[in-house]
Amino acid sequence: MKILVTGANGQVGSELLQADLINKYNAQVIGCDRALLDITNIDNIKAMLNQEKPDVVINAAAYTAVDKAEEEIDLAFTINEKGSENLAIICNELAIPLLHISTDYVFDGAKNSAYDENDAPNPTGIYGKSKLAGEQAIIKNHPMHYILRVAWVFGEHGNNFVKTMLRIGKDREQLNVVADQKGAPTYAKDIGETLLKLAVQINEETNDWGIYHYSGATPTSWHGFAQTIFEKAVKTNILANKPKVLPITSKEYPTPAERPLNSILNCDKITQTFNIEQSNWQLGLNNVLQAWKK
Ligand SMILES: NC(=O)c1ccc[n+]([C@@H]2O[C@H](COP(=O)([O-])OP(=O)(O)OC[C@H]3O[C@@H](n4cnc5c(N)ncnc54)[C@H](OP(=O)(O)O)[C@@H]3O)[C@@H](O)[C@H]2O)c1
Repeated sequence: MKILVTGANGQVGSELLQADLINKYNAQVIGCDRALLDITNIDNIKAMLNQEKPDVVINAAAYTAVDKAEEEIDLAFTINEKGSENLAIICNELAIPLLHISTDYVFDGAKNSAYDENDAPNPTGIYGKSKLAGEQAIIKNHPMHYILRVAWVFGEHGNNFVKTMLRIGKDREQLNVVADQKGAPTYAKDIGETLLKLAVQINEETNDWGIYHYSGATPTSWHGFAQTIFEKAVKTNILANKPKVLPITSKEYPTPAERPLNSILNCDKITQTFNIEQSNWQLGLNNVLQAWKK
């Protein structure tokens, strides 16, 4: 199966190009970074898909700067809404299934339990609004789609919370981390593998298109995640001492974009439909720490 990946330099996109995953799923993956394929340019998309003729497109490209989006509103919507729409229109024209990644930030976080795919989105910030608009553009323009909503992504490639904590933890004895936002970290490589599993099972009879939630199996808070990162960093000799992690509230750490207090995704649908287990983020974290040491 020939799979074309957009946003191939991103945290998730780069996982889709790892040789072990590609070999495991016997896929041929064409990775396109922004310079090669800009999803805001519909002619660029059309030319690339006509040239490569992939069996599936995975869109890992996105505008992901959650706080900056509050100022760069047009840019966030141009990439996340219009870019997704462009891909959906051309993929529909060429009858190529489209796999797309979305976010827990489409929800407002007010629910008391995990969000499932039937819960009504209600994003509070520009990033979440632009991602929801992207989902809607795909649903409207292309029936053959999987939209995978993920949360709290971390991995070996790109910037993420784990790397920030390791950098800060090196120089500090004590730090404050938000404890009232709940969610489940998701290992980027597990997202890559899930997308490849979804891609390779597609056939002419596939009729289970739609939205799926996928995240780590054991929810925590950013504070809990930081504690685990530091405990493991000490055990693996990355840090000599574990910094003291003080729990604070979101109100005590104001950000331009409001974050959902509850980001926990119910992932039963993807498990029941495709037998895909949730990400074991603790194992993923071990891998990231090993890579950090090198
Ligand atoms: N990170 C998280 O915690 C998180 C949580 C929930 C959902 N998600 C979703 O997961 C997906 C992957 O996120 P990620 O963490 O891998 O993001 P990322 O590391 O920021 O990667 C996004 C990639 O998209 C590229 N890109 C931006 N605009 C583009 C355009 N117009 N055309 C083509 N490529 C473009 C970027 O290229 P440049 O390097 O040139 O900017 C970057 O390589 C996104 O859909 C995101 O919304 C992420």
